[in-house]
Amino acid sequence: MTSPSPSLAAATAPSRPALARSGSPRFDLYSGIHKAMRSFMAETLVRVGRIDVADAADRGQALVQLEQLLAFCADHLRHENTFVHTAIEARQPGGAAKVAEEHVEHGESIAALREEAAALQAAPEYAAAALALRLYRHLALFVAENLQHMHIEETVHNALLWQHFTDAELAELHGRLLASLAPEDKQTAARWMLPASTPAERAAMIAGMKAELPPEALLGVMVMLRPHLDTAGWAKLANAAGVSTQIGA
Ligand SMILES: [Fe+2]
Repeated sequence: MTSPSPSLAAATAPSRPALARSGSPRFDLYSGIHKAMRSFMAETLVRVGRIDVADAADRGQALVQLEQLLAFCADHLRHENTFVHTAIEARQPGGAAKVAEEHVEHGESIAALREEAAALQAAPEYAAAALALRLYRHLALFVAENLQHMHIEETVHNALLWQHFTDAELAELHGRLLASLAPEDKQTAARWMLPASTPAERAAMIAGMKAELPPEALLGVMVMLRPHLDTAGWAKLANAAGVSTQIGA
């Protein structure tokens, strides 16, 4: 359903992390949101693989989660095309062409998966098991393609961004992207990004939210996140946010 990706060996060739002159890591537009995507994709793939087609509620809930994932993927493509590719092309014409082609294919795959999901939703029970297995396999191929694609973005595209842009420019670009998001888009991104990140990364993200959000909105984010963190992870995040570990209990 998508074109072959660069070989895994090439995609996983050792690379040194890029450092700014100060010795700190360069600004990485991709890594946080891609952790969210990998987590959302992996959980949804497993969820679709265990659908009980005889249980209408279970079938429906799994397909709602799949649609949320596909909408998240479609939005992500648009954000990368609008903000990141435009920036790369402005300073290195053609630099984003290969990845942009893959984005077109991903859009086609998303449309095909939506059609298969609609067919499964409407199918009588006797036909549903075969449709569910077909959807699961095609979603697995979509996830596989995306895992390789994201690696290329985090290596090849980041190298271009770091070559042509300062960290201040990348932070400004990232700020414009975030400002384009609706509140519910930010909520979905936080739902998947924070649990998929390290405690240090979570602490940095929650500090950013604390600086931006009214206290009650920050508490709302924390309550939303709690069920998705283990006990130790929750305690570290509550400590970083300066809130009680008891909220949302
Ligand atoms: Fe992408």
